Amino acid sequence: MKRRTAILVVDDDPFIITSLSEFLHARQFKVCSASSGKEGIEKFDAHQPPLVLLDQKLPDRNGLDICKKLLEINPRTKIIFITAHATVRYAVDAMQAGAFNYLSKPFSLDELLITINMALNSLQIEDKLRVQEYNRQQERQKIRLIGSSLVMDNLHEQIQLAAESDAIVLITGETGVGKSEIARAIHAQQARRETFLSINCAAIPENLVEAEYFGHEKGIFTGADVRREGIFELADGGTLLLDEIGEIPFHLQSKLLTVLEEKALRRIGGSRAIPVDVRIIATTNQKLEQAIEEKRFRQDLYYRLAVIKIHVPPLRRHLEDIPEIATYFAEQFCRKPLSFANGQMDQLMQYRWPGNVRELRNIIERAALVQKNKALRPAELLRLDREKTCTHMAGEAALLQGMEDLLPIDEVLNHYIAHAYRLCNRNKSLTARTLGVSLSTLKRKLKVLRATS
Ligand SMILES: Nc1ncnc2c1ncn2[C@@H]1O[C@H](COP(=O)(O)OP(=O)(O)OP(=O)(O)O)[C@@H](O)[C@H]1O
Ligand SMILES: [Mg+2]
Repeated sequence: MKRRTAILVVDDDPFIITSLSEFLHARQFKVCSASSGKEGIEKFDAHQPPLVLLDQKLPDRNGLDICKKLLEINPRTKIIFITAHATVRYAVDAMQAGAFNYLSKPFSLDELLITINMALNSLQIEDKLRVQEYNRQQERQKIRLIGSSLVMDNLHEQIQLAAESDAIVLITGETGVGKSEIARAIHAQQARRETFLSINCAAIPENLVEAEYFGHEKGIFTGADVRREGIFELADGGTLLLDEIGEIPFHLQSKLLTVLEEKALRRIGGSRAIPVDVRIIATTNQKLEQAIEEKRFRQDLYYRLAVIKIHVPPLRRHLEDIPEIATYFAEQFCRKPLSFANGQMDQLMQYRWPGNVRELRNIIERAALVQKNKALRPAELLRLDREKTCTHMAGEAALLQGMEDLLPIDEVLNHYIAHAYRLCNRNKSLTARTLGVSLSTLKRKLKVLRATS
């Protein structure tokens, strides 16, 4: 059954109390009443009604004082004044005291009901907003950057500084070090900005990038049946994370630069400049300086992006954080808290972690899965992985024994590249770096491989 809303009526006129009580009771409200200020405050304290109908003049206290007192006890209460002679002065005083509204006698019961419903609607909206704010805070608390090393302290300081301004941030560092998480942390600390959107520049087919970024007008190309807003417009007022910015096609870099400089964009096929207020955070695991030298990345765009630069060191530079981070992941992935077997942490701290925190996270997740209800031995899983890799490599080497098994060098190379790509979790940048080739070379090779396999 729906709970009835309580209303407190405070008035020294017994006729008003009786008639209002009967009327409200008949409309499913729970009514309590008081005939003096003192009694009103006591009843309010005891029943905490969300709504109060309050007489302007009471024998013992002024209605405005009581209004302030009630709001001190519960600031969310909606107070409606009932006044005998409403003057503009009194209305202003009532609103300043925090009242929701006022009714001047004589008023119709319809008028009263409408005002009550308006107050209850307003309460509902406030409740909804509070829930949203609570959810947002929960969401923000979910962002955890664990570690208390100097490296992490330094990063937290930089996050704080970046959150205090609206300047563009460029976050660099190897794959899996926590760049995207740091971007989210910067956004989370900026209370002013609500929306957080991200776009992975490497994941969009080249011919669609421009439309994804800046949107398009209707009918401008085949398939553009409706006008579409791009991600810059959708993120208006919020933060936009441009993940893997190093992968943005060269021909679009100058358009991006213009948008960043002018803080306005033009949709494809559109002539109107649309102003956008977006806080940009870009990340890359490429060495952009090298990309600039190789003419793959515009230098002017680089300078525009790197107003605030945060470099995230690899995990092997703050191995001392491993116990804390590993324990945090174990708490996340294990149903009940599990400890690590003896010596495991030491072994984890001796590994070089090419995949950084992501690799650590993955191995703890696997350990939690396969070592259910036992002490965790993630270092053992790592060792088994490496043994398997070695056996696999040895197996491939064995293939090459004997004249009949000899392969053309290109084929062997391709085989090796595919193998490295698998080992690097299909991360192109990491594979290219590990093999010491440029990203474009690797992509070319992978394309050939795909075509021939
Ligand atoms: N200090 C940390 N504490 C806890 N978790 C972390 C930390 N750093 C990173 N992580 C977690 O590690 C994973 C990888 O982080 P993230 O995706 O931010 O890396 P990245 O640098 O953006 O990688 P990529 O270059 O591949 O995009 C995420 O699950 C993230 O939550
Ligand atoms: Mg990322």
